[in-house]
Amino acid sequence: MTDHTIYEIDNSGIEPLSNNSNNTTFAEVMTQRRQFLKGSLGTAVAAFMGASLVACGGDDDDKKSNSSSSASSSSAPASSSSSSVSSSLAPLLGFTAIAANRNDAITVPAGYTATTFVPWGTPLTGSMPAYKGDASNTGADQEQQVGAHHDGVHFFPMDAKTTGTNSSEGLLVMNHEYLDDKIFHPNGATLGATRPADEVRKEIAGHGVSVIHIKKNGSNWEVVNGSPFNRRITGATPMDIRGPASGYAKMATKYSPNGTATRGTLNNCGMGYTPWNTYLTAEENWAGYFVNKDATQPREHKRYGVGTKNGRYFWELADSGADEYVRFDASTKGATALDDYRNEPNTFGWMVEIDPFDPEARPQKRTALGRFGHEGVIFAPAVEGQPVVCYSGDDSQNEYIYKFVSAEPFHKATAGGWLLNSGVLYVAKFNADGTGEWLPLDITNSAFTAKAAAAGVTFANQADLLINTRLAADIMGATKMDRPEWGAVHPTTGEVYFTLTNNTSRTAEQIDAANPRANNATGHIIRWNEEAGKTTFKWDIFLLGGDVGTTTGTDDKAVTLTADNHFASPDGLWIDPRGVLWIQTDMSGSQQGTGPYGNNQMLAADPVTKQVKRFFVGPIDAEVTGVTGTPDMKTLFVNIQHPGDRSTSTNFTSHWPEGGTARPRSATVIVTKNDGGMIGS
Ligand code: FEO
Ligand code: CA
Ligand code: CA
Repeated sequence: MTDHTIYEIDNSGIEPLSNNSNNTTFAEVMTQRRQFLKGSLGTAVAAFMGASLVACGGDDDDKKSNSSSSASSSSAPASSSSSSVSSSLAPLLGFTAIAANRNDAITVPAGYTATTFVPWGTPLTGSMPAYKGDASNTGADQEQQVGAHHDGVHFFPMDAKTTGTNSSEGLLVMNHEYLDDKIFHPNGATLGATRPADEVRKEIAGHGVSVIHIKKNGSNWEVVNGSPFNRRITGATPMDIRGPASGYAKMATKYSPNGTATRGTLNNCGMGYTPWNTYLTAEENWAGYFVNKDATQPREHKRYGVGTKNGRYFWELADSGADEYVRFDASTKGATALDDYRNEPNTFGWMVEIDPFDPEARPQKRTALGRFGHEGVIFAPAVEGQPVVCYSGDDSQNEYIYKFVSAEPFHKATAGGWLLNSGVLYVAKFNADGTGEWLPLDITNSAFTAKAAAAGVTFANQADLLINTRLAADIMGATKMDRPEWGAVHPTTGEVYFTLTNNTSRTAEQIDAANPRANNATGHIIRWNEEAGKTTFKWDIFLLGGDVGTTTGTDDKAVTLTADNHFASPDGLWIDPRGVLWIQTDMSGSQQGTGPYGNNQMLAADPVTKQVKRFFVGPIDAEVTGVTGTPDMKTLFVNIQHPGDRSTSTNFTSHWPEGGTARPRSATVIVTKNDGGMIGS
C-alpha cells in the first residue's frame, strides 16, 4: 500500500510569530495608557466619535446596545434623533438577525436565498476539464479550472471603465489562498523522499487568482464559457517586478538574472481594487513555501519565517527536478545568485496588480508598497490632483499596519499602475492618547536614517529597505498589532477601519491602548480618521470581539454584544457603497467547535450607531472570507474557504456544498433577496 505520509505537511500555524524586535513592548506605553484610561478608553472613543463620525449625525444616545430589540427600535423611533447616515442606514439593516449555528450549510436571513457558484475545480479555460469528485484531476486540468480556497473577491462591472453601473454582467476576480493537501488529491498528498511532480504542478495551479466573466441569465448568474476574459493566474504565471526593488541585486535569480521578473503569486489572501479598475492580490504567508537550509539565513528570509527544513508543501522535492520546482529551495547552491534561487523568496511578499480587462497583461509586483505578509489593500477614495493613498496590514502576531502615498497625483484620465511605482511607505504608531502617527520608511528621510543609525542597521538603498520592510518598521518604533487583517474605507467620511483578528501571544505586560487585551483570542476592529496630507491621525476601537456581554466603551457610549451579533476573530471587511460595514470571521476549527460562536459568519454593521446584526453563517470548518456586490447591491458574492479543513483524506468533516458524502469544496455564494430588493433591507 502506498505510504501517504500526509501528516507531515503541516497547515497549522500559517501566520507564525516572527517579530522578535524589541521596539516598544509597551512597558512605557502602559504608563501612558493607565493615565489615558483614567478617563477611560470609552471616553476617549466618544471624544473621537464626536469629532469625526458624528459629523454624520447627533446620534450618540442610540449607541447603548446592539440587541435586535434596539435594532428594531433604531429603525423606527430612534431615527428621530439620528439626523443623517444612521437614519439612512437603518432600512439597510432591516433583515432579521440569524442565530449562530453549527450547520454544514449556508444560513441567511428569512427572505434571502444563497446559491453556490464557481466552486473549486469549475472548468474555466482551454479544454474546460470537468471537475472529478474524487479529486483525480491532473495538474494540467487544474491550470484550466477555478482554484482552491476562495478568498478576497471583487466584482468589476463590465462597464467599470465608464459608468460602472452594470449589475448584470462583469468580471468576478478572486484569490485562491492555499489548499488542504488531504482533500486536494484522491488520497491526500504523496510524500516520500520526493513528491510526484504532477501533484506539485496541480498544487501550484490551485493557488493564485481566477478572472471569471459572469452574466445574468434571467435571475441566475452564469459563467460566460469561452469568454476571452476568463483566466487563471497561478503560482507559476510569469510576472514583472516593478518599483524600487525591480532590478536590485537581491532580486536576481537564475530565472531572471536582471531581477525584473519572477514566476507566480502565492498565498493570496485579501485583495484590493484600484481607482483605475485593476485588481491587487496580496501575498500573505508566502514565506513558508520556501526553504533555506543555509547555516545562517539572510535577514530578508529570517524576519519573514522562510523554512529551515522544508517548504510548506515540499514542492522543492518534485521528482522531475524541474527548475520551476527546484526554485522553492532557496539554499545557496551555486557560485553566485545567478546560479541558484537564493533570492527567489525576495520576489514574494508583495502586492501584485492584475488588469482583469486585459487578459494578455502580465501581473506586476508593486514593490513600493512594501514586502510583508500582506493581508490585502484598501484605497482611499481617489481625489483628482491629489496623491493616491492606500493601506495594508501585515497579518502576523505583533506586526504592523502600513500606508502608501503615491509620489504622483491622481488624474482620472491618465491613472494607472505606474502610480504605485513611486511614493512613500509609512507604518502606523498608535499613541495612548488616541492620536497616531505615520512614520516614513524612506531612506532619504532624516528621521528614518537617524533611527536606523541609532539601531546600527544599514540599508544599501530603498530597494534593500523595501525587501526588509518589517525591519525598517521595527526601527521606527511602529506599534505591534494583534494581527492586522483587512481594511475598509468609508466612501464618504474617508474613515479607515481595520480588523485585528486575534493575538493569544500578547501578555498583560504587552497590552497597549490600541491592543488592550492580553491573550486576545477574539480580536477587535480599530478605526482612524485623518486629514489629507497629514501624517497624524485620530483613532479609536470600533468594536471588541467576544461572547455575549462583551462591551466596547463605557457609560452611555458603550455597545454590548448580544446573541444576535457575538463574534470572534474578525478578518474580512468591506464597506459597501451605501456605507454598510460587512464583518467576516475566521475562527479556527477548534474555536468554532468549542466556542459559543458557531461556524464562521458575516455580520452587517452601521459604522455610526454600531448596530451589528448577523447576516450569514458558513458551513462546518470553513472561513467566510471575501465579499463584494453588484453596483445596485442586489447581488452579494461571498466566498467560503476551506470547508471541512479538519478533514483527513478518508474522513471529511464537511460535505459542503454538494452534501451527502461529497468531498468539500471552497466556493462562492451568491446571496439575493427574494423580493428583488437590496441586500440587507
Ligand atoms: Fe489569510 Fe490573514 O488571513
Ligand atoms: Ca484573511
Ligand atoms: Ca485570518
